[in-house]
Amino acid sequence: MRGLFFVLVFTAAFLTGNISVKASSSGIISKDLLEIDKWLATQVPVSKENLLKNIHPAGTVSGVVVASPQTDNPNYFRHWIRDAALVMDVVLKMQNRAVSAQDKKALSNLMMRYMYFSIENQNGGGLGEPIFEVDSKVFTGPWGRPQNDGPALRAIVFTQWAHQLIKDGQIDFVKKYLYSSDWPAGTLIKKDLEYVAAEWSYPCFDLWEEVKAKHFYTQMVQRKALILGSQLAHKMNDHGAADWYLRQSQQIEFAMRRYLPTSNAEVNLSSKQKGPLNRRNYISASVDYTEGLNSKYSNLDIAVILGVLHGEHDGFFSVSDQNVLNTYYQLVSSFSLLYPINRSFASMAPVIGRYPEDIYAGTNFNGGNPWVLTTLAMAEYSYKLALAQLKRAKSTSADSRKIVAAQRWLETGDAFVQRVQLHANPDGSLSEQIDRYTGYMSSARDLTWSYAALITATWAREQAQRELSVQLKNLKK
Ligand code: NOJ
Ligand code: NOJ
Repeated sequence: MRGLFFVLVFTAAFLTGNISVKASSSGIISKDLLEIDKWLATQVPVSKENLLKNIHPAGTVSGVVVASPQTDNPNYFRHWIRDAALVMDVVLKMQNRAVSAQDKKALSNLMMRYMYFSIENQNGGGLGEPIFEVDSKVFTGPWGRPQNDGPALRAIVFTQWAHQLIKDGQIDFVKKYLYSSDWPAGTLIKKDLEYVAAEWSYPCFDLWEEVKAKHFYTQMVQRKALILGSQLAHKMNDHGAADWYLRQSQQIEFAMRRYLPTSNAEVNLSSKQKGPLNRRNYISASVDYTEGLNSKYSNLDIAVILGVLHGEHDGFFSVSDQNVLNTYYQLVSSFSLLYPINRSFASMAPVIGRYPEDIYAGTNFNGGNPWVLTTLAMAEYSYKLALAQLKRAKSTSADSRKIVAAQRWLETGDAFVQRVQLHANPDGSLSEQIDRYTGYMSSARDLTWSYAALITATWAREQAQRELSVQLKNLKK
């Protein structure tokens, strides 16, 4: 009920026609907004184009995915294992959706090069290394290491690809590069899976590269990698390993109770205080803090929502999970109040940051900003929840109330996308962050992950819309 109230209030001010949003004081962004489908009709192709531009740009070796073309303050002209895997997951899906044989071929070539480069990364760095230079050398500057979400995300992409290649009769290729039962592990996916299976229970740096602890995000994607990997291992006649991966994934599930609000996990991450039970109703981002940034007192982080989006499998911590939903609500209310730019556009959906205590502004540490990819994650979550509700409505009796609720979630997703339109550059380019005072794009320009996030959010939107129209038709019958 509370959820329905929330979406209703939230979308009441949401208009579908062309609207002009003007902030009250000068220096703040203002814009005539297009109706959302119209905006996406150009924004999606622009995002795809800009995403592809960041794969193997001039001055890089083949297979590199730069986090951004920006080389200075901040220098993101490097290959992050995490960003690259999330981006190549989109490329793989683009390949599956491509209609022309020529596009399919071009995108599959990108996968191939990414594979060779990843094999080189594994051999030349080590599996927890977060960043490689564009000439393929491991990045050796001081940094948060290891980051163990990387190998898991990479295994998720390549496992899906391997399944497809096998279907296409390319099992020999898969055996040679991606997965063979040889021991010690000599292939890309098996190396990642062995690493994940051995390391998941140890602290590592989080996806924001700041906190060494155990993390909801990291363990969500590790679990998914191990389950998908276990299925692949069976296919490749590596049954012992398949059982081992699956068993580890089950142990991750057990360990992940620690993040639940009802567990006695630390509320104040840094001082290791044991919080009173039920003091918070949202999922903790991290437990067992060991080192690194220690000011995330709330332990509230969009990383939880991202963990669900990137790691959901078989209904474990699904979008419909009440604790996940509470985390979503808590993020909305925290960030609505936190950023001045949200007060300037109080009738729109809020822009969302990483976590309330964040101070990283890309060019300095003077205070955190909202981000593009996190705001889009809220949109994608809303769309996926709409879809989940529609599926549930179908499996029970045709229930118009459930359909209405799903419709509201779709509108909520649209409200977040609409909000991103307000802040996007006029040419559709998307940076990493949004200035919390002015609303203009800031920090690294053309962040590859921002484009990936726009694309995956719109895919989730399409799916929910398609299911909705099917059910509305059935209802009329
Ligand atoms: C760069 C990281 O990528 C960013 O996430 C972090 O906030 C800063 N370094 C500070 O550690
Ligand atoms: C900083 C983000 O915190 C991190 O997640 C990302 O991998 C790097 N920037 C590169 O985009």
